[in-house]
Amino acid sequence: MSGYDNTRSKTAGPEEHYKNTLSRIEQIQAQFKAPGTGKLKGKVCIITGVGSLKGIGRATALLYAREGAQHLYLLDFDETNLPNLKETIQSQYPAVKVTTLQADAADEAAISGVCERAIREEGRLDVFFANAGIVLVNTIESTTVTNFMETMRINALSVFLAVKYGSSAMQKTNPSKGKDRTGGSIILTASTAGIRSGAGPVDYSASKAAVNSIAKTSAYQLQKTDIRINTLCPGLIETGMTGATFDYARKRGTAGKIGQLNPLGRHGIPEEIANAALFLASDDSSYVNGQNIAVDGGLSASHPVIPGRWS
Ligand SMILES: NC(=O)c1ccc[n+]([C@@H]2O[C@H](COP(=O)([O-])OP(=O)(O)OC[C@H]3O[C@@H](n4cnc5c(N)ncnc54)[C@H](O)[C@@H]3O)[C@@H](O)[C@H]2O)c1
Repeated sequence: MSGYDNTRSKTAGPEEHYKNTLSRIEQIQAQFKAPGTGKLKGKVCIITGVGSLKGIGRATALLYAREGAQHLYLLDFDETNLPNLKETIQSQYPAVKVTTLQADAADEAAISGVCERAIREEGRLDVFFANAGIVLVNTIESTTVTNFMETMRINALSVFLAVKYGSSAMQKTNPSKGKDRTGGSIILTASTAGIRSGAGPVDYSASKAAVNSIAKTSAYQLQKTDIRINTLCPGLIETGMTGATFDYARKRGTAGKIGQLNPLGRHGIPEEIANAALFLASDDSSYVNGQNIAVDGGLSASHPVIPGRWS
C-alpha cells in the first residue's frame, strides 16, 4: 500500500480502540499513584474548585500533596466532600498541612481572605490554582441575562480575583520562611472552549476566552516579579461537570464514541490535567509564562481530517 491508502490500515477498529483507551487510562491512573519526588517541597498553595469527588481540583490537591506541598488551602463553594478530601490527604501525606474552606471563588472577601491567611500563617504564597468553574448547558435562545452574568462571574471574575490577590501575596518576601525573592505560579483553568469555537455554550466559551486573556494581559503587568501566570485548557475530561454525558453514553453502550473528535481519539481524566497543573506549579516550568496550554488530546490543534479519509 502507498500514498493516502496507507493511512487507512494503521488504526484499530472502534472496539479495539476503546479497549486500548480503557487500558491506557488505567495505566495513567496507576502512574499517578507512584511516590512523589518533592517537586513542591515547601510551597504554600491555594486551589479552588476541589469539592467534586471526580474533579480536576481534587486530583490536583492529591498530586500537590504527593509532591510535598507544605500547606494546601483548599476551597469550594460546596462543602459536602471537603472533610473527605482533608482526611484522604492527611492519611496518605501526614506532613502536608491542609486547610479547607467553604467559600465562593468569585467572592472578593473570600479570595483576599485566603491569600492574607496564607501570608499570616505561612509567611508566603507560592501557587494559586484558580480552577473553580461552572457550565450551564443552554442554547443562545435559552441563555438568560442572569445565566450569562453568573457564568462570567464564577468563571472569569473568580480568576481575576485569584490574579489580583494571589499576585499581591506572591510579591511579599519573607527570608525567615525561605522566601527571599518575590515569585510564584498562578494557574487558571480555562478550556478548549476558550481557544476555539464549538466546544461549549456561548456564555461558557466567552468566559473561558476571558480567562485566557486575563493570563496573557496579567503576565506582562507582573513583569520582573518572577510570578508566572498561565492557563490550562482542558478538552473533554470525565469529571463531575461532564459525568452525566458519560453515564448516559455508558447506559446506551456508546461510551466508545466519546472523545472521537481529537487525534488521540479518547476522553481525558482529571489526573492528566493535574499532571499539567503540577508542571506549571513546579520549577520545571520556570520559563513558561503567559501561555494558554491546551491539554486536550490535540482537539484544539486540528480539523478532524486525514488524507484519504475525507468522509
Ligand atoms: N471536565 C471538562 O471536560 C472540562 C473541560 C474544560 C474545562 N473544564 C474546567 O475545569 C474546571 C474544573 O471543573 P471539573 O471538570 O473538575 O468539574 P467539577 O464539576 O467536577 O468540579 C468543579 C468544582 O468547582 C466547584 N465550584 C463551582 N462554582 C464554584 C464557586 N463559585 N466557588 C467555589 N467552587 C465552585 C464545584 O462545587 C466543583 O467542586 C472548571 O473551571 C471547568 O470549567 C472542565
